[in-house]
Amino acid sequence: MPAETIRQCTTVFDRPEPDVGNYFVSTYPPFSCWTPEGEAPFRRWLGQPPAGLAPPLGLYVHIPFCVERCHYCYYLSHEDRFGEVDTYLEGMIGELSLYSRTPALDGRPLDFVYFGGGTPSILSMTRLRSLMEGLQRHSDWARAREVTFECAPRSVTEDKLRLLRDSGVTRISVGIQQMDDRVLEANGRVHLVADVERAYAMIRRVGFEVVNLDLIVGLVGETEESFFGSLDRVIGLQPESITTYQLEIPLNTPLYHAMEAGGADVHPASWDVKHARLQAAMSRLEAAGYSVRSAYTAVRDPDRHRFHYQDAQYGGADLLGIGTSAFSHLGGINQQNLASLRTYLEARARGDLPLWRAYALDDTERMVREFVLQLKIGSVSSAAFRTKFGVEILDFFAEPLALGHRSGWFETSADGVVVTREGLVRIDRLLPAFYLPEHQAVRYS
Ligand SMILES: C[S@@+](CC[C@H](N)C(=O)[O-])C[C@H]1O[C@@H](n2cnc3c(N)ncnc32)[C@H](O)[C@@H]1O
Ligand code: SF4
Repeated sequence: MPAETIRQCTTVFDRPEPDVGNYFVSTYPPFSCWTPEGEAPFRRWLGQPPAGLAPPLGLYVHIPFCVERCHYCYYLSHEDRFGEVDTYLEGMIGELSLYSRTPALDGRPLDFVYFGGGTPSILSMTRLRSLMEGLQRHSDWARAREVTFECAPRSVTEDKLRLLRDSGVTRISVGIQQMDDRVLEANGRVHLVADVERAYAMIRRVGFEVVNLDLIVGLVGETEESFFGSLDRVIGLQPESITTYQLEIPLNTPLYHAMEAGGADVHPASWDVKHARLQAAMSRLEAAGYSVRSAYTAVRDPDRHRFHYQDAQYGGADLLGIGTSAFSHLGGINQQNLASLRTYLEARARGDLPLWRAYALDDTERMVREFVLQLKIGSVSSAAFRTKFGVEILDFFAEPLALGHRSGWFETSADGVVVTREGLVRIDRLLPAFYLPEHQAVRYS
């Protein structure tokens, strides 16, 4: 590991959050550094059996279809391509079958699985059944610690939930966003509060280990009352996990276009308001018996209601992502699939892996990646990084930690780094200060 330290972070801390554009950090180095040429080391890695003990392996499955596009949403999803669903699902099963026959992945059981979207729950019973059977022909999640399935309230039925439970799903995650019909409508959601209550009752009747409900703070039309009223109603339902995202307004969203066009009634909350509401929400969740587990998620029981998909990735697990735009982190190499449905389906029709861009991390970059991602959970252990990477994180990141400490965002001790509440609510803005200098000024995506 080179004796390098992180510098030049002052300007990063001085930059405010962008009013519009991407904010959430899900990987390192930023996607814009990944290139088609990076594919060669990725393919070489697939061709070799694991040397020594392989890390845990997870699977991400992307379902890029929704009933309608919510105004704020930037996920890759289509509301008008339902004619291609069957070809897409077959293509994805075929993609997994190609990976399952590589020396690197052959026979490795899955430790965690995540079905995300888009809206996985809009698939019909027939399609869900053939997807689950198809994927399980090429992978084994019988002993997985967690299998998450994302749902939107209106598309949940008891039949589908039973099928999911019987296919091994342990964690259901529902996008409810807010419990106020006026706000839901103003943001283009197709569901109403009554749909959330109906779906939640069904999920409880069928029975899953963990139910997570997603909220967004800062939506168009949101007020102090609507947000905290929503939070209280969600707490009243007593899900095992509550996730609160702060609204981002990426440039590919209908909301951004409406703001550009000067829509009189389009005034999402400022970052200061979002941070303050999220921080107050964390206190309210704690007062109700929840524990804050990351910058976004609070859980009822931190020992039992872990979010393995997140924790394992942040700890350096292997992740295979299948489907359009899905990304992988395998053997220390980042890889993202083709991001348009057309190019993805063309690659699959040719029988190819639908690779788009990749980036092979060196040892220092792997260490920085795990450090940055673990800050999102709120603490990083010095001993863990010493053992795994031979690095003293308090020395390596001394400059941004000292600056961040002065602003009240980080605390340090011999044990490592703890992110304060003030730091946690703005963590995605602070993370680039810990990047290697060559990655600090680049675009995220
Ligand atoms: C893929 S969606 C989840 C499932 C389902 N599609 C739904 O919306 O009900 C994942 C979550 O991302 C969050 N999200 C989407 N767009 C966002 C944005 N612009 N800013 C913040 N969070 C966002 C929402 O909370 C959403 O529930
Ligand atoms: S928030 Fe969920 S339902 Fe809405 S467009 Fe995005 S993925 Fe689809």
